[in-house]
Amino acid sequence: MNSKLTLLDLNVAHKRVLVRVDFNVPINEQGDVVDDTRIAEALPTIRYLLEQHAKVILMAHLGRPKRGVDGTKEIPSKYSLAPVAKHLEKLLGSPVHFSPESIGPVAEQAVSVMQEGTVLLLENVRFHQEEEANDPTFAKALAALGDLYVNDAFGAAHRAHASTAGITAYLPQSAMGLLMQKEIQYLQGELKNPEHPFLVILGGSKVSDKIGVIKALMEKADTFLIGGAMAYTFLKATGIETALSRVEADKIDLAKDLLEEARRRSIRFLLPTDCIVTQSIQASVPTKNVTLSTTAGIPEDWEGVDIGLETRLIYAREIAQAKTILWNGPVGIFEIPDFAGGTRSLAEAVAANRSALSIIGGGDSVTAVKQFGLASLMSFISTGGGASLELIEGKELPGIVALTSC
Ligand code: ADP
Ligand code: 3PG
Ligand code: MG
Repeated sequence: MNSKLTLLDLNVAHKRVLVRVDFNVPINEQGDVVDDTRIAEALPTIRYLLEQHAKVILMAHLGRPKRGVDGTKEIPSKYSLAPVAKHLEKLLGSPVHFSPESIGPVAEQAVSVMQEGTVLLLENVRFHQEEEANDPTFAKALAALGDLYVNDAFGAAHRAHASTAGITAYLPQSAMGLLMQKEIQYLQGELKNPEHPFLVILGGSKVSDKIGVIKALMEKADTFLIGGAMAYTFLKATGIETALSRVEADKIDLAKDLLEEARRRSIRFLLPTDCIVTQSIQASVPTKNVTLSTTAGIPEDWEGVDIGLETRLIYAREIAQAKTILWNGPVGIFEIPDFAGGTRSLAEAVAANRSALSIIGGGDSVTAVKQFGLASLMSFISTGGGASLELIEGKELPGIVALTSC
């Protein structure tokens, strides 16, 4: 993967450079960007190109807009990248032009009037179904807008779409951007030979999405701290009553296998010893801190929503001793302040360990850490969700594979 062209290998002066960015950011009903991490992280590549007198044409997606089967249905305006152009303009401090079409005469016209050292953002490439189908004709139409290609959309690098992969067949040189390089350096480089103890915190909502990464990380990690909804599938696998907690029933056997493998390999695989339970997922409702054992689990009609007070102390002690920390997935429903305590205390413990390299990945985990005001105390915040996990698992990412080898 590292034998790919990088931005600095390209001769970009006076060229039209097509840059794929991941501007898939949360936007509220008023049209304001709620978390602009991904936009801010793309600035170094954009600024470099502007300084080099390139014409910067940005391609991006937002959400997962779907038309009717026949392609006729209107796409709601909430999927438009227009608010992102405005936000980028503020961050950049210079004008950002917006093309309401990503291909065809409208986009071609917008490109043709560009001055050197200016930026144009194309409308959401997913307005065309051909984007996700990696359709060659669509890829060619995008490629026609530029002379060179740069992929800086790390968060979408696990997708083999027209603007992330197919397009490279129609341009002479395709390189990775500065953000892409940085992400690979951390997630592959730093985690290749991590300093030990190497501790992994895994939470979030879907065991099935993250089970592959547990297996892969068992090769390297010394300690796993399990939280979030994921914990309940493991707790169930050990025979503990989980009542209404979110459990993926078809993953219980796999959870048993993973626990057994951890035991066999002497990996510390910690599950919560207590948790916060509720009868309703909303703020200001009664909660209890219950101890988890095979004789006393979660009471009937209650649901686990956060790690408990004892678990927070045990996990924080482990975090304090680690030299490398990888965190993916909040350990509770942190969106509701009453259930955010576990995630907050682990974030504080990670922030307090100044001798460890700490890497936070996953959209919701990053949002949580930012919400607590602790982001600047982490070594690295990844802009990738699925992409970062696939990279850590050792999978090849189509958005990187498609770039020009050197
Ligand atoms: P990330 O985006 O960091 O990869 P995920 O998308 O896998 O994380 O999961 C984040 C979601 O998991 C959050 O919306 C959070 O509310 C939810 N979650 C955490 N703990 C629980 C729990 N005990 N029960 C249900 N959902 C949970
Ligand atoms: C993400 O938000 O993880 C990336 O932008 C990819 O989006 P997708 O899962 O809709 O392809
Ligand atoms: Mg998420």
